[in-house]
Amino acid sequence: MKDINIEDQFQAKIDAEIKIEPKDWMPDEYRKTLIRQISQHAHSEIVGMLPEGNWITRAPTLRRKAALLAKIQDEAGHGLYLYSAAETLGVARIDMLNDLHSGKAKYSSIFNYPTLTWADMGTIGWLVDGAAIMNQIPLCRCSYGPYSRAMIRVCKEESFHQRQGYEILLTMMKGTDAQKRMVQDALNRWWWPAISMFGPNDAESPHSKQSMAWKIKRFSNDDLRQKFIDVTAEQAKILGVTIPDPELKWNEERGHYDFGQINWDEFWEVVKGNGPCNRERLEARRQAWEEGAWVREAATVYAEKKARKNQEAA
Ligand SMILES: [Fe+2]
Ligand SMILES: [Fe+2]
Repeated sequence: MKDINIEDQFQAKIDAEIKIEPKDWMPDEYRKTLIRQISQHAHSEIVGMLPEGNWITRAPTLRRKAALLAKIQDEAGHGLYLYSAAETLGVARIDMLNDLHSGKAKYSSIFNYPTLTWADMGTIGWLVDGAAIMNQIPLCRCSYGPYSRAMIRVCKEESFHQRQGYEILLTMMKGTDAQKRMVQDALNRWWWPAISMFGPNDAESPHSKQSMAWKIKRFSNDDLRQKFIDVTAEQAKILGVTIPDPELKWNEERGHYDFGQINWDEFWEVVKGNGPCNRERLEARRQAWEEGAWVREAATVYAEKKARKNQEAA
């Protein structure tokens, strides 16, 4: 009897838009769902640094280099806020990282695709950060306090990322024919993986219903994907590029763009670890972790020394 009561109270709080905070009672499933979602999100931020990090030394101008560097550093920061938010649910950061490095934890599949040309930097900003914004703006109103607050700053930074990407493409589209072809080629490669970022169709998304009731999620995968496609189809016109989907067409009756079928077989293959860069990304992460061991050790020793000094002074 008591349990039913406490669950009802929990749901009533959520229905009344009162945030759930770390020390509040919450159902185990709610906690588990959030740990899974926030840690996957954190992993995506730091793995997402890898495909772009590849281009810092090759950025065409000092201005582009500075903007790209700042963007990639932002992603590291996003990872840090999110690991901290997940820690408030009682999971240790080291365990989350071990799960990432062992391949047990997932991250967004989009980062398992290679970045072949400079136009990929523009396209990632435009589409990948653009899709991230669509996904993350509703998360600013997520029922879990620490996650929702982290997302407010993240979203502001994502909007800079999206614009820096789109501006790279606008500049290239004013350039030579070779540059224009480069942009079109990047769009051809990134379009389908980008619209897959919203996840499986609603009918195949088993956790969605409960997450909506708990107000972790506010919109379904298909609704967010539609919104994203409606916005980007117009932006593609301004750029003067062709979205590689022959079925993409404005539907007057629905007030939305119709679009073709996503190749879900490819999507699941990449999720399972068989994408073009899955191995490379995990290897880079593991190597970074090993090579950073001395920094972690030094920081720990320094913190201990400082604490001891403070104690002595007191
Ligand atoms: Fe980010
Ligand atoms: Fe971003």
